[in-house]
Amino acid sequence: MDGEEGGQEDATVFAIMDLSNGRVALKAEGLFLCAEPDGRVTLSRTACATWESFLLAEPPSVFQPNVLRHSNDLVRLAVKHGVDKWGSHWYAQHYHNHFSPYRDQKLSLLEIGVGGYDNPNAGGGSLRMWEEYFPSAIIHGIDIFDKQPHERGRVKIHQGSQFDEDFLRSVFKDAGSFDIIIDDGSHINAHVIKSFEVLFPLLSNNGIYAVEDVQTSYWPEFGGNSDDLDSNGTIVGFFKSLVDSLNYEEFIKPNYQPTYFDKHIVSIHFYHNLIVILKGSNDEGSNILRNNERV
Ligand SMILES: C[S@@+](CC[C@H](N)C(=O)[O-])C[C@H]1O[C@@H](n2cnc3c(N)ncnc32)[C@H](O)[C@@H]1O
Repeated sequence: MDGEEGGQEDATVFAIMDLSNGRVALKAEGLFLCAEPDGRVTLSRTACATWESFLLAEPPSVFQPNVLRHSNDLVRLAVKHGVDKWGSHWYAQHYHNHFSPYRDQKLSLLEIGVGGYDNPNAGGGSLRMWEEYFPSAIIHGIDIFDKQPHERGRVKIHQGSQFDEDFLRSVFKDAGSFDIIIDDGSHINAHVIKSFEVLFPLLSNNGIYAVEDVQTSYWPEFGGNSDDLDSNGTIVGFFKSLVDSLNYEEFIKPNYQPTYFDKHIVSIHFYHNLIVILKGSNDEGSNILRNNERV
């Protein structure tokens, strides 16, 4: 099951158990094969919940262990809408883990980058994917090119640059709030950092901000570099510097004035090419210090 050549010899034989909703459970030696939320597959449980089930890429009659698909619903929707958040990148599993508790809420989601560049009719796949994944949400898409043909249903389109602060504020004024923001736009380091500096304060309390394709942090043509990995001017370097904000209450610095990011970032998740930042009130307090001084 590790997908490497030669692994077939040791492959466990699974009984396929139909769960009647198009999904199957796979059982071997009294244990169920489970798709874990973090993307791993384990042979670990004696009972199988629906989310631990699988979709077979082929009918059961031609089943091979290595054609399993994770039953994560966002993975299915990414494939359905032709979105590279699964297949080319592997973001859908992480998004599902962060977003699934909020799926049925009346959210406002903003994605920077509609896709398809200067062809007005091209792109839009991820907006449709989010519209289907969040059945009560309003989905806002920003693109520097005209993407008006994609405005239908619960999807709203705004034309402008993610590097233009006035434009970003006008989108927020129109939307009223953002609960989730996803940056999949230019991937230029300065643009991504600027958009975060403008938009993160406008995100709802307990909102989620995601930045995709942060590999451009290392690529000079996008303003990145592969040598100074802690540079504040690169996407990954910038977000690495915010890790210390999580612990600002532990700095021994009398009269320290916390920044907005210190007070409002409660966790930062680094994945391959994807960063997810959770907003909240970062005010648990130190167990030793008061106001950045020992008492
Ligand atoms: C990678 S595509 C987005 C793909 C889409 N999010 C998806 O998952 O299907 C990037 C998009 O960002 C747009 N873009 C490029 N520079 C931009 C900028 N400065 N501001 C806003 N959008 C920009 C491009 O026109 C392009 O359509």
